[in-house]
Amino acid sequence: MFDSGVGGLTVLHALLVRLPHEDVVYLGDTGRFPYGPRTREELIAYGRELTGILVAQGAKLIVVACNSATAAALPLLQRESPVPVLGVITPEARAAVRATRLRRVGVLATEATVSSGRYVEAIHAVDAGVEVIQVACPGLAEAIQGGEPYSERTLALARTATEPLREAGVDVVVLGCTHYPLIRHMLQRELGPDVQTIAAAEELAEEIAETLARKGWQRGDDHRGAYRFLATGDVEAFRIEGTRFLQLPIDDVEQVAVASL
Ligand code: DGL
Repeated sequence: MFDSGVGGLTVLHALLVRLPHEDVVYLGDTGRFPYGPRTREELIAYGRELTGILVAQGAKLIVVACNSATAAALPLLQRESPVPVLGVITPEARAAVRATRLRRVGVLATEATVSSGRYVEAIHAVDAGVEVIQVACPGLAEAIQGGEPYSERTLALARTATEPLREAGVDVVVLGCTHYPLIRHMLQRELGPDVQTIAAAEELAEEIAETLARKGWQRGDDHRGAYRFLATGDVEAFRIEGTRFLQLPIDDVEQVAVASL
């Protein structure tokens, strides 16, 4: 599983709970965080490189636990990779369409994800009649990963991001960036109790479980799954922030080199 930073740990958490027998390697590209302002070409290059590292580690399945990378590179990675690649966006889009009564869905995401238009496509692939209101949230993932996720600054960004969605009267909001579930309570308070928030973690964990079962690749119940971490940036910072977000212990984080930081 890879992500631009620690946000994907929300997806990892759900996976470790749903599939406790599987071994997981999580690669956080913290050295090149944030992905949100990156170009499509950069995100494709990073996605290829990180997929290659995980395949070399023996991965039987790759999970792109990053919305920006999924938006830019998922189909390409799926075509090129020797193992199956699953991503976010589609599971959330399906869940959002299932949940909306008003057929009006909001999406909070990075600039890269919003400009890709992938959420609109994925939601319209299920129901073309659903109105989709997208809001790009520059700086929000950085505020969450920056050591003080529950600060006044994060709250101010959360308020600005949710305002257009409140005005549009959506009844479902997709947290379309792996970092946003970490401030779910803050966003939910701004959106109000009648708005349902959707995140990828559980939906995606279910899709991973189904894929492994279909292929007969699950580990047996007698195996206790192990999880370990690679990071392209500061390993100690990853360990400290990561432990908080994963809500499980992180011992060692191994430094991994990538082409350009
Ligand atoms: N993993 C990224 C995403 O979901 C977090 C934000 C970023 O790197 O800018 O888009």
